Amino acid sequence: MKRRKIKDILGQGKEQAEIVIMGWVRTRRDSKGGFSFLEISDGSCLKNLQVVADHNIDSFDSISEKLQTGSCVGITGKLVQSPGKGQSVELQAKSIEVYGEADPNQYPLQKKHHSFEFLREISHLRPRTNTFGAVMRVRNRLSYSIHKFFQDQGFVYLHTPIITTNDCEGAGEMFQVTTLKPDSIPVVDGKVDYTQDFFGEKTCLTVSGQLEGEVYALALSEIYTFGPTFRAENSNTSRHLSEFWMVEPEMAFYDLEDDMNLAEDFLHYLFKDVLEHCSEDLEFLNKQIDKTILERHRNITENEFERITYTDAINILEKLNKNFTYSVEWGCNLQSEHERYLSEEVFKKAVIIYDYPEEIKPFYMKVNGNGKTVRAMDVLLPKLGEIIGGSQREDDYGSLLKRMQSKKLNSEDYDWYLDLRRFGSAPHSGFGLGFERLVQFVTGMENIRDVIPFPRTPKHARF
Ligand code: 4AD
Ligand code: MG
Repeated sequence: MKRRKIKDILGQGKEQAEIVIMGWVRTRRDSKGGFSFLEISDGSCLKNLQVVADHNIDSFDSISEKLQTGSCVGITGKLVQSPGKGQSVELQAKSIEVYGEADPNQYPLQKKHHSFEFLREISHLRPRTNTFGAVMRVRNRLSYSIHKFFQDQGFVYLHTPIITTNDCEGAGEMFQVTTLKPDSIPVVDGKVDYTQDFFGEKTCLTVSGQLEGEVYALALSEIYTFGPTFRAENSNTSRHLSEFWMVEPEMAFYDLEDDMNLAEDFLHYLFKDVLEHCSEDLEFLNKQIDKTILERHRNITENEFERITYTDAINILEKLNKNFTYSVEWGCNLQSEHERYLSEEVFKKAVIIYDYPEEIKPFYMKVNGNGKTVRAMDVLLPKLGEIIGGSQREDDYGSLLKRMQSKKLNSEDYDWYLDLRRFGSAPHSGFGLGFERLVQFVTGMENIRDVIPFPRTPKHARF
């Protein structure tokens, strides 16, 4: 007989003569009347299915010892209306098979509550907790609706390479990819001879798919990437990962305003969709993790984003006379404390800051007429800070070349990128959304390490 999923069984709530379920025992409680009550989870939804096992069913005695928290079982039985509170139906077991035992003296997930720090040490078992099940189902829905948003508008999903020779953000925070042996690196004239390396030149893991995305936007008009990106920055914060997923749409014929409009529509869409399709998980997280999640979601979906220039943002922050850890003056990089203050305290909603100083932004952004600022924008959310960074791209060959030179980039390495401005250049824009930051905001999880299955952070890559 085909296995039924617990989500469907609870969703329908109908009695049935015989069904089969499979899953993991979350709890077992024995009653004096000769029954065991098992809570079974198969991860298809937050709720467990209650199974009532009469101790008189065939071979119960021989498996009773093995029916413990954490063990994996297949159960055939009759689905009946449940007299108990909290569930519509329950399963009266006819036969139980134990697929895998979990010794109660050794299985780590015995308690009802474990700290997230402890769970990070057992990232191979933490998906079996309610919180991680909920977070991963929400993550799954968000991935799906990201594709749906772009596909419905005719954007082409593009797979950009992971191994690359260019540093898109110019921050030098790249992981190198090499087959050279650390103890015998070929050196010529005091420099590493990369002609002997696998690709014949220095290669790294990508920090962003944007530059390759631009190539295809200037042929297919509207594309998006959604893939892993890597940053070797030594930031041990609750918002940084060394390996994270980024969504990067890139659009020909969009100026910065079109870009900001798309970013705002995109976030509105994602929040509405996840509220509709993950309500059970989100209500659970709202109760257990952060009681303001649902309210914060509503704040995003029901309000237009505030839009202010970087210069206005600096003026506001300077007038506050507040003792920030990092002081504020025109030209500085906004720190997360500043970004959060603007969205949390000043505007109390999502904020887009645009037109940043040229000096603090990468080479590819379009310079404004004043020569001082570039057509960049960041979307900031309360409690999180930056979730999206984007810009209109420099589409003029001469200006781009000048900017690359002033940032000390070797224009020969970017001949293909410059070619896009020599042959059929077009105004175009794009942005990057940090996917884990989105999942973090939606689920209310404090630490970004708890919204990705296997987090990679400085000094941590093993499970
Ligand atoms: O602002 P960033 O660096 O922008 C880019 O990479 C552009 N090439 C995007 C584009 O225009 N196509 O990164 C984009 C977003 C940030 O806003 C942030 O949400 C996220 O990626 N991000 C990180 N998320 C987790 N861990 C990190 N170390 C991150 N660095 C950036
Ligand atoms: Mg950024």
